Amino acid sequence: MQFSCKKMQTFAITAYLVICLSPIFVKFVQGNVDTGVMSKNKNRGKGSMWWGLAKAGEPNNISPTHPGVISLDKSVYGTLRRKQRRLSRENTGLLEAVARGVSLAISECQHQFRNQRWNCSIKNFSRGRNLFGKVVEKGCPETAFIYAITSAAVTHSIARACTEGTIESCYCQKHYSSPQQITDGKTKEVSTARRFEWGGCSDNVGFGIKVGREFVDTGERGKSLREKMNLHNNEAGRWHVQSLMRRECKCHGMSGSCTMRTCWMKLTNFRTVSDVLKERYDKPAHIAAHSLASSKPNKPHANRFPKGSTANSIPTKRENKRKHKYGFQLKPYNSEFKPPGDKDLVYYELSPAFCEKNPEFGIQGTYGRKCNGSSEGVDNCSILCCGRGFISQEVIVNERCNCRFHWCCDVQCDMCKVKKRIDTCV
Ligand SMILES: *[C@@H]1O[C@H](CO)[C@@H](O)[C@H](O)[C@H]1NC(C)=O
Ligand SMILES: *[C@@H]1O[C@H](CO)[C@@H](O)[C@H](O)[C@H]1NC(C)=O
Ligand SMILES: *[C@@H]1O[C@H](CO)[C@@H](O)[C@H](O)[C@H]1NC(C)=O
Ligand SMILES: *[C@@H]1O[C@H](CO)[C@@H](O)[C@H](O)[C@H]1NC(C)=O
Repeated sequence: MQFSCKKMQTFAITAYLVICLSPIFVKFVQGNVDTGVMSKNKNRGKGSMWWGLAKAGEPNNISPTHPGVISLDKSVYGTLRRKQRRLSRENTGLLEAVARGVSLAISECQHQFRNQRWNCSIKNFSRGRNLFGKVVEKGCPETAFIYAITSAAVTHSIARACTEGTIESCYCQKHYSSPQQITDGKTKEVSTARRFEWGGCSDNVGFGIKVGREFVDTGERGKSLREKMNLHNNEAGRWHVQSLMRRECKCHGMSGSCTMRTCWMKLTNFRTVSDVLKERYDKPAHIAAHSLASSKPNKPHANRFPKGSTANSIPTKRENKRKHKYGFQLKPYNSEFKPPGDKDLVYYELSPAFCEKNPEFGIQGTYGRKCNGSSEGVDNCSILCCGRGFISQEVIVNERCNCRFHWCCDVQCDMCKVKKRIDTCV
């Protein structure tokens, strides 16, 4: 059967343009915003309210009168802390970047956990705090992952936004000044192959880390073990964004001789960051719950970022306070192990079982989950269905096939009937 998907494709591309490519303006409903920021102790450990910004990206929030304009639900804006609102006022475009960051974090989390018993499903929330459900009330590895990936995505998104010029208060980084110039024949020999200068436009990860940290860590004072866990995992997320940056260069010189190169630092694709964070989740560091972490005032957390990553030089009073907040060393659960490192995700409570329904932690169980009866991997039915077994159905589905690309910009496909087996946990 021949079938042209041209029309459908055009529609899809248009929708994509509107949603993804046009600068997204977030319009805030000013005034009459409830200022009661929920910062009371009883809410600590129940998640971060700003996650609710993900709601800004929902298609049903696009205002029909101004295409491309997203109205942010004022109840979400109302959940932001005073400092977060100040940051957004001072940095036009920041909130859009944060909102894009949370949405990215959610889709990456669901990608990484698509075949796991816990699949990072999102609640139909009204307030951001419960976006990931009650599982964040436990200091378990899933919670560690959620904090790390949301923090990483926000830093990534802010740094990218600087380069794209959508945050008014930052630019891309010109990076370091060039190394010394070639002056005579002697140095020329050794230096031809490797010589480069910083130039072009580096992604401003320094700004992404600094402002991301201020925004994301605002609610965490670092007093309780749970707050320390959150701070550590937030910082680990940012660390991976920074350490996975790579240098890109362009050659100069006569006829491609590449005697001189111009280089800049570029953020890696966020999928790479989420892959690495998932590896860390698979081997998380168990920290001691009984003893609160000792402080380590001489080794502020922020120092571990390579030189040039943070924009500050002389610490202000506020930064001293900040260093105090981050200056701690968590203790390993098993004293024979090394203390957790900067890149590790840390947790102190075991995960709840995700097999059965458990309303206490908002767990739906794995009933009805799709699995693969012939896979030896993580989507293996016997693992995903927790040994309850599965049912196998043969279905015929229509799929696009034999797609051809026509310049420019249509895709034409045939529709093919494909027989598929669908396995579902009982
Ligand atoms: C996660 O699993 C539940 C069933 O346990 C399912 O209803 C939900 O759609 C899944 N979410 C995602 C994002 O795959
Ligand atoms: C989710 O919430 C919206 C309102 O915010 C409501 O219209 C919708 O029916 C809800 N969906 C579900 C599945 O509960
Ligand atoms: C199930 O796993 C097998 C073996 O890994 C693979 O060949 C097959 O495509 C998978 N099926 C689905 C529906 O993912
Ligand atoms: C699924 O995993 C279990 C446990 O690891 C293993 O015993 C079983 O052979 C696997 N199933 C398939 C089809 O590979």
